[in-house]
Amino acid sequence: MTISGKTMLAGVIGWPVSHSRSPALHNYWCARHGVDGAYVPLPVAPGALAAALKGLMAAGFRGVNVTIPHKEEAFRLVDALTAAAKRAGAVNTIRFEPDGTMRGDCTDGTGFVANLEAHDCAMSGQALVLGAGGAARAVIAALLDAGCDVLIANRTRDRAESLVAALGGGTVIDWDRWPDALARCTLLVNATSLGLAGHQDHDWTAPLREAPAGMTVADIVYVPLETPLLRAAKARGLKTVDGLGMLIQQARAGFAAWFGTWPDADAETRVLLLRGLNEGGQG
Ligand SMILES: NC(=O)c1ccc[n+]([C@@H]2O[C@H](COP(=O)([O-])OP(=O)(O)OC[C@H]3O[C@@H](n4cnc5c(N)ncnc54)[C@H](OP(=O)(O)O)[C@@H]3O)[C@@H](O)[C@H]2O)c1
Repeated sequence: MTISGKTMLAGVIGWPVSHSRSPALHNYWCARHGVDGAYVPLPVAPGALAAALKGLMAAGFRGVNVTIPHKEEAFRLVDALTAAAKRAGAVNTIRFEPDGTMRGDCTDGTGFVANLEAHDCAMSGQALVLGAGGAARAVIAALLDAGCDVLIANRTRDRAESLVAALGGGTVIDWDRWPDALARCTLLVNATSLGLAGHQDHDWTAPLREAPAGMTVADIVYVPLETPLLRAAKARGLKTVDGLGMLIQQARAGFAAWFGTWPDADAETRVLLLRGLNEGGQG
């Protein structure tokens, strides 16, 4: 890659950010699509986001991705929000506009649904989402907007109730009783951090006994790629969708917004990310 004065710049702001696979993904897409662009990791400590965004805009960056712990603050700092960002209550993609303003988007939910569609999953019927954190909110909003009837179970029930009130849709069910609801669902989504490498174990085999044969099971956790939930679902003969496709799909809109080209989400892109994850990286 040759960087010149004309090279378009973007990056990912996080704390920490050294583990991020986004630079590898976006720089691969630049090379693959012949885009004169570069994407860099930008470690920005809590409290320094506003100054960092102002500086990057002044330095001519096209925009940035924003990840943990800055997504909610980015939501408050930008000048304009997309409908998806408003629904998610968070911003993960910012475009610096030529008029000096910042436009914030949240691509997690649309990326999740795009990945399901790429796996030929019908966006209809009843979906059960486990979790009510930041990622769950984006996923639930996108499923509701796609026309699904969404049940939500979260360990902390109040958090799920607040989410339903904020989104104006979805139905809360008890965390302890979610397996009872499976029989009438076409989709089960784990949007909690259960299954994440290094986190506490959970038994998924018993709850999945109630799952109907045609149900799809999706996990948004992708480290490990085959989570304990997906392993149990496969053993039960159910269709599974892992979290890596969501990671790739949610990145596409940012690349298009900054560099003007809609990038491929093909098998080669997936292989590139898998290689990085096996070497210990994350999204
Ligand atoms: N594939 C992708 O592109 C992508 C994108 C974004 C996030 N993610 C993954 O999504 C996961 C959640 O991220 P987030 O930002 O939503 O985190 P978050 O806001 O911290 O929410 C965590 C969620 O997990 C639940 N939880 C945590 N430990 C639990 C346990 N032991 N038992 C039951 N529930 C538990 C929490 O329930 P309580 O409310 O009760 O605490 C909450 O619903 C992370 O693992 C992240 O890596 C993937």
